[in-house]
Amino acid sequence: MIQEFNKIEKIKGKLSLPGDKSISHRAVMFSALANGRSEIYNCLLSDDVLSTIDAFRSLGIRIEIDNVKVIVNGKGINGLQKPEHELYLGNSGTTTRLLAGILSAQNFSTVLTGDESLSKRPMKRIIAPLHLMGADISGENDCLPLKINPVNSLKNIEYKLPVASAQVKSCILLAGLFLDEKTCVIESKVSRNHTETMLGLEVKEENGLRKIYSSKKNFPIADNYFVPSDISTAAFFIVLTLLSKNSELHLDSVLLNESRIGIIQVLQKMNADIEFGNVEIMNGEKRGDIIVKSSLLKNIEIPAEIIPNIIDEIPILAIAGLFAEGNFIIRNAKELRHKESDRISSVCNNLKLLGLDIIEFDDGFEIIKKDFKKVLKKQSVHFDSYDDHRIAMAFSVLSMLLENGGKINNFDCVSISNPDFLTQLKTITR
Ligand code: S3P
Repeated sequence: MIQEFNKIEKIKGKLSLPGDKSISHRAVMFSALANGRSEIYNCLLSDDVLSTIDAFRSLGIRIEIDNVKVIVNGKGINGLQKPEHELYLGNSGTTTRLLAGILSAQNFSTVLTGDESLSKRPMKRIIAPLHLMGADISGENDCLPLKINPVNSLKNIEYKLPVASAQVKSCILLAGLFLDEKTCVIESKVSRNHTETMLGLEVKEENGLRKIYSSKKNFPIADNYFVPSDISTAAFFIVLTLLSKNSELHLDSVLLNESRIGIIQVLQKMNADIEFGNVEIMNGEKRGDIIVKSSLLKNIEIPAEIIPNIIDEIPILAIAGLFAEGNFIIRNAKELRHKESDRISSVCNNLKLLGLDIIEFDDGFEIIKKDFKKVLKKQSVHFDSYDDHRIAMAFSVLSMLLENGGKINNFDCVSISNPDFLTQLKTITR
């Protein structure tokens, strides 16, 4: 589907956005592993999280979805059953990599498949540490389909992550939940910490390294989860508000976890008027309201250490950078090439359609700002989503800021993380 956007006049109002994707996936997974009934409130019901729900249903777990909550009837440490068919995981990297850790410890075989994009994403990063644990897992050229066979027993490992990745970290730690001895994952750059927070894992900081431990003692127990709104989804609305004139937006109860608010910190350094209200801790996670007002932004140097914290927000940050004073530069972000699309080339190719000079690096890009007034007046720009939800939403935001609007190809992919994006926009655009 091609979606057309006109220039908006301003943003005004309040939004309660759906639950955080990373937390929703984990809440479903941990509830399915636990013994007994768990309820998940404000669980995101997007295509990606539905892939997790469907996978656990195929593994024999009863999961009900009603208006306000997801009810998971977990069956405990030996509760998963051999599925009758291959597990198709759609577009979801988080489902695939976390589930691979769990399934490596089961006494039955499974095959994991996915859509075209997921089938191209690198799985060596989980296959290698799972092999060190003794798992029988293989992929086709280290990609999907992943074949997992039972082994007599896994062994605990100590593993230093070669790339900052919460999915790889979580995969290993979840396999570690089935072992008596402690498994340890070491990271030098902090990636999102929901697995360790939600499971209450032991974390030690030593010589600038973070060591996270899991064992059977940390096996999840049935609980109720109240999922805060997704900060990564909020980022699109935040940038749209900042860049629109006379605008103000209030976002209710958004996740403010320190390993996720890099986007807010970077935008604030760029002179964004963003404030927090009603900050509280619930289920071990910080959440609060976000109040955003129109701002004149200026580009800054983005430090390498913050990249894992803003990895999903870089496409929309680039849109903020396009309107900010000075050139926008992002480096040290090679991981972007391994997301739902190659996000470095997706962003660069789309920005080039505006007649902008873009320098593409292996690990980032630079937007050279000249003739910006001409860029804003460009006629009928037709962007490509590259079937990547975050590219579709980032360029929707840009389209709403261009004088003649813009169009997005294959826009439907927004349902991966936010099926109601258009409805939410309607309530706040004037
Ligand atoms: C996620 C981790 C990140 C992120 C993804 C969600 C998670 O991926 O990009 O959207 O929930 O663990 P990597 O771990 O591959 O960086």
